[in-house]
Amino acid sequence: MERQLSEIMTLPRLLPGLVGAMLVWGAGGGGGSPRLSRPPARGVTPPGGSCRACHQEIVDSFVKTAHARTSAEATARSVKGRFAAGQNMLRTRAPGVYFKMERRGAAFYETGVDTNHGSSRAERIDLVIGSGRRGQTYLYWRNGLLFELPVSYLTGMREWINSPGYRDGEIDFGRLIVPRCLECHTTSFPPAGDARVRRYSRAYVLGISCEKCHGDGRRHVEYHSAHPADSVGRYILNPGTFSRDRKVDTCALCHSGARDPKRPPFSYRPGEPLDDYLVPLSDRDVPTPDVHGNQIGLLRRSKCFRSSPGMACSTCHDVHQPKPDLAWFAQKCLGCHQVNGHPGAEQIGARMMTSCIDCHMPNRRSRAIEINMPTRRLALYYRSHAIGIYPEVAAAVLRSHTEQPDP
Ligand code: HEC
Ligand code: HEC
Ligand code: HEC
Ligand code: HEC
Ligand code: HEC
Ligand code: HEC
Ligand code: HEC
Repeated sequence: MERQLSEIMTLPRLLPGLVGAMLVWGAGGGGGSPRLSRPPARGVTPPGGSCRACHQEIVDSFVKTAHARTSAEATARSVKGRFAAGQNMLRTRAPGVYFKMERRGAAFYETGVDTNHGSSRAERIDLVIGSGRRGQTYLYWRNGLLFELPVSYLTGMREWINSPGYRDGEIDFGRLIVPRCLECHTTSFPPAGDARVRRYSRAYVLGISCEKCHGDGRRHVEYHSAHPADSVGRYILNPGTFSRDRKVDTCALCHSGARDPKRPPFSYRPGEPLDDYLVPLSDRDVPTPDVHGNQIGLLRRSKCFRSSPGMACSTCHDVHQPKPDLAWFAQKCLGCHQVNGHPGAEQIGARMMTSCIDCHMPNRRSRAIEINMPTRRLALYYRSHAIGIYPEVAAAVLRSHTEQPDP
């Protein structure tokens, strides 16, 4: 599993002859395919813009979600990193090697400096990947290709770090962004016109938008605009009506961790069996929660999922809404469980609802993102979807309860 976690983030270094082989798109080419998305205006299409006339409530809350904001053009609003003097340096363990992050006018730059060789290299931050719930990675354009910048930013800790998978002390601007990365973090990223020249087109759509889960909505919009009296939704996919396996596949395209492709990226459409597109993980790969973790694999290991044929991701998640708090999720458990007869009810007391998730879906420490701070030990934590009984975790939650009683 660890092998896969690092692979998903470790991008190939650019070897000219290999670019063509690495940049392979689905038939019709990513978002350029006739089945996906209207011709986008670069960087400014608000997710769900063409849906808002009739689904205003959904669109207005969806634009605030992490999905809608997971990629963006670099602007003072989208770039969360700190650029003020004193907060804009990443020192490394290699003496004389450091990175400096700067704002020049409306643009943002990362510069790698090696004083030993008197060399330095600066590149502009062009695109932002990551809504910034936890962190962001930055990309730059070069000759129609996208490359990862060597320094990423952790939002909660307000720290610059080596981008995941990068070696501390190395100045590496050469990691190519492959389409699979963009398949999970954008709506579409078609290749440039001439298919023989492997380049990204500028006609991309950033953020994850409605059509990623509902398919192309153009015919639906046309039909309902022309037939305003028809109250039955037509010519649109609704994952709510899929079988459980296809529902889960809608999310698994991006939430089942690193998997080898069977078909080119951007060719999957909601409602199709995902295993035809990505090689299924073997049962021997025990998933662990992490930044590019496998929520599906973890959930499948739980009794809740195995004993409830109807349970899917949307049993607990409403992807049209920004993330709610933990007590809201605990209410979802009560759809199937009662806490009256809970074996630990007496000890747990008032913590029953507020700690429900912490006891049964514990947070686990990230192994994919290392944070090397000389003075502080920091870590990131990810929620396990292997819902179950964790006696040590529960005991720790109860201990923290006795030490710090609720006011
Ligand atoms: C001109 C009006 C109109 C526009 C624009 C529109 N829809 Fe709809 N949509 C409807 C109506 C009417 C229904 C049926 C009533 C309902 O479920 O709200 C519907 C239903 C749906 C459903 C549920 C279908 C089902 O099987 O239950 C989905 C999903 C949907 N729309 C998605 C979208 C998306 C995505 C867009 C933008 C690409 C969009 N709609 C744009 C009118 C519209
Ligand atoms: C096209 C890829 C893609 C698909 C499809 C997708 N997700 Fe996500 N999801 C992401 C990415 C990328 C993030 C991280 C966003 C960020 O913070 O930058 C994310 C974040 C999340 C989060 C955490 C943020 C939050 O809002 O709470 C949840 C929960 C989630 N997804 C659930 C789902 C569910 C449920 C489905 C299926 C109905 C789904 N996702 C389908 C890519 C996807
Ligand atoms: C298989 C789909 C997939 C691929 C490929 C992928 N990601 Fe992600 N990424 C996700 C999902 C899903 C999340 C949210 C995970 C969570 O919160 O548990 C995420 C989270 C992130 C975050 C943190 C967002 C935040 O604010 O918490 C960053 C940064 C990120 N990815 C960058 C990248 C980059 C750069 C690449 C390509 C080099 C990449 N990812 C490849 C699906 C993917
Ligand atoms: C990450 C996947 C995802 C994205 C993105 C997404 N939806 Fe949905 N949508 C779903 C799922 C899953 C359901 C079915 C929920 C259920 O099981 O009840 C759904 C259901 C719907 C419905 C049916 C009515 C309802 O509320 O259940 C409408 C309408 C709809 N979506 C519109 C939109 C619009 C408009 C957008 C973009 C602004 C959008 N969706 C973005 C996954 C998504
Ligand atoms: C769709 C229904 C459903 C939902 C929602 C649900 N569960 Fe379950 N859960 C079940 C079923 C069914 C079982 C198996 C019961 C049995 O075997 O007796 C189960 C078993 C469990 C167990 C026992 C696990 C074990 O390994 O023995 C725990 C703990 C649990 N659930 C906690 C939760 C929590 C916490 C939530 C909310 C985050 C939740 N469940 C949401 C249906 C559900
Ligand atoms: C039984 C309820 C339940 C089900 C079913 C469920 N989740 Fe979650 N999920 C949660 C809870 C609770 C959290 C934690 C929210 C928090 O920490 O604020 C969460 C968090 C997440 C996150 C963010 C994880 C992190 O640590 O950043 C992602 C991504 C996610 N879920 C995806 C999925 C996907 C994909 C599925 C379907 C395979 C799914 N979830 C099914 C309850 C559920
Ligand atoms: C302080 C931690 C803690 C909290 C809070 C908590 N549980 Fe539990 N839960 C446990 C432990 C520990 C067990 C196993 C107890 C045993 O077998 O004696 C358990 C057992 C269960 C079981 C198995 C039931 C059985 O009869 O074997 C279910 C289902 C469950 N919890 C659901 C929930 C739900 C749902 C919530 C919140 C709404 C919740 N729990 C809150 C720690 C907790």
